[in-house]
Amino acid sequence: MSGERQLICGLDDIEDGESAGGKADIGGRERSLVLVRKGEIVFAYINSCPHIGAPLELRPGYFLTLDRSHINCVNHGAHFRIEDGYCVQGPCIGQSLKPVDALIEDGKVYVQG
Ligand code: FES
Repeated sequence: MSGERQLICGLDDIEDGESAGGKADIGGRERSLVLVRKGEIVFAYINSCPHIGAPLELRPGYFLTLDRSHINCVNHGAHFRIEDGYCVQGPCIGQSLKPVDALIEDGKVYVQG
């Protein structure tokens, strides 16, 4: 499946402005994903904090700060911009989440492996 388009979920499975988790084969390896929906766009990242490589979330699928303005890492409080994964607060400031190409087609969310 690596390199191919992979169905992750329906767009309506992610509430607008909220996050979800997923799994996909990225580069020949199954990876956990961070997905954040903004309207008709879904931003996708590998679920691995650039600080020490740990998963970001405590509860599956819940990746956002309370005000929903940033992606949050629960381990040491890093905050990442939703739009580009850039860390604006925390121990990995200046580093970024690894982006994954996501696309929406016919109301479904796909990622490119
Ligand atoms: S592991 Fe994410 S901030 Fe430390």
